Amino acid sequence: MASEREVRAGLQRAGQEHLLRFWAELAPGPRAALLAELAPLEPEALREHCRRAAAACALPPGPPPDLAARLQPLPPERLGSVSRSDPETRRRWEEEGFRQIALNKVAVLLLAGGQGTRLGVAYPKGMYRVGLPSGKTLYQLQAERIRRVEQLAGERRGTRCTVPWYIMTSEFTLGPTAEFFKEHDFFHLDPANVVMFEQRMLPAVTFDGKAILERKDKVAMAPDGNGGLYCALADHHILEDMERRGVEFVHVYCVDNILVRLADPAFIGFCVLRGADCGAKVVEKAYPEEPVGVVCQVDGVPQVVEYSEISPETARLRASDGGLLYGAGNICNHFFTRGFLQMVTRECEPLLKPHVAVKKVPHVDEEGNLVKPLKPNGIKMEKFVFDVFQFAKNFVAFEVLREEEFSPLKNADPADRDSPCTTRRALLAQHYRWALQAGARFRDAHGAWLPELPSLPLHGDPPAVCEISPLVSYAGEGLEVYLQGQEFQSPLILDEDQARVLQPPES
Ligand code: UTP
Repeated sequence: MASEREVRAGLQRAGQEHLLRFWAELAPGPRAALLAELAPLEPEALREHCRRAAAACALPPGPPPDLAARLQPLPPERLGSVSRSDPETRRRWEEEGFRQIALNKVAVLLLAGGQGTRLGVAYPKGMYRVGLPSGKTLYQLQAERIRRVEQLAGERRGTRCTVPWYIMTSEFTLGPTAEFFKEHDFFHLDPANVVMFEQRMLPAVTFDGKAILERKDKVAMAPDGNGGLYCALADHHILEDMERRGVEFVHVYCVDNILVRLADPAFIGFCVLRGADCGAKVVEKAYPEEPVGVVCQVDGVPQVVEYSEISPETARLRASDGGLLYGAGNICNHFFTRGFLQMVTRECEPLLKPHVAVKKVPHVDEEGNLVKPLKPNGIKMEKFVFDVFQFAKNFVAFEVLREEEFSPLKNADPADRDSPCTTRRALLAQHYRWALQAGARFRDAHGAWLPELPSLPLHGDPPAVCEISPLVSYAGEGLEVYLQGQEFQSPLILDEDQARVLQPPES
């Protein structure tokens, strides 16, 4: 453990000695905690971090002036699309994905270090229940999809296989997530195949480049963004762990998309067959101003350009087929080969430019009084997971249907988008569609038939409540055996027990 003198000397070198200004008032416990927090901050890196934050914040806001001229959509040869490909092609992608999963070459990696400030709950977002009839949390849905995809791949290839689950957490989410998994018996996954690791934290900084004290004995720290993944992979030797297990392909995703298809065989298969080292799933933007990043090229290099950096005129441009020219919305679902991750962590990580977020950061004033600022007073610096696309040798994008694969939980109810209500609705509407496609029919409480597929609205609550456990169906497959020609009254909860009841007896 570093001494006060050593830490003070380091802070002096970094121009941040003010972080110890309440030292004399602190009791031994808080003193030790503060030293433990400060000791790992390497002086040169801390100085540079604070300098960069203040400098980045001083830049004028808005898009770089010449961006529009440098922008191009992804060329068609880099794009695959679920809706624009024929069934045979889709089958080949899926088959290849299942093959790789069955060979134990595929892992999933969850980015779960965020603070979820917009949702505003005091626990990790993955532990959130959006109000499904089953009461399942996001973590449970994901765990069950892993189990199901392992089962499907295993059955196809006549083998048993494992999709290891790597979970990047942060100081905020590691403890409660680990506890939650233990409490729930790892949702029946083998704990040896669930690997949690922690990303780094960085101090929040004032506009004039001073790290902020949240309390007299605590620096205001925030996780270093989901692009902190690359440092965290190196810090915790995660790629070595993947190598030991024979993992070659990694599906990286965000915690908050309730429809996420973990280790999606079609996506994996498409990327593998294209020989890609890096890939991104995209959905068509719903409207030109939709606030999602766009996967495109800048000076011929693949990138995600943030919606705020694209002018309204550029955002409205149309391609010859009538779709938006810059319509490939990023949904934080990425494919990486282990080799690519190795190269990025070893060589490219320092080249990733941090992004600046200006936030209200609670802090103590000169007298040590707690201040909750009413306007933004601090800078948080974050790296983004997708900023590595520029280093890919063979980047591809894979377009999927939004209503099947993307509904993120960002805001608290009653927000009109990306809320518990909209995500719950998206999942239940999807399951209702799956049930109808499998040949089920539903009646309302008075016995009247409910709408069938052609008249089913894409938005709003589905006519009947239908929830299908991921353990029964991963993406709508295999439901006919339980549902074909059957009538149900809402709600239908198709979990493993119900599936057993509905399964016709073997002749
Ligand atoms: P968001 O940018 O939506 O952030 O994260 P958030 O923390 O979930 O929510 P807000 O902005 O505070 O309301 C997108 C994904 O990246 C992860 C999140 O956990 C989420 O899966 N993330 C974000 C990290 O893993 N680490 C970070 O430092 C930031």
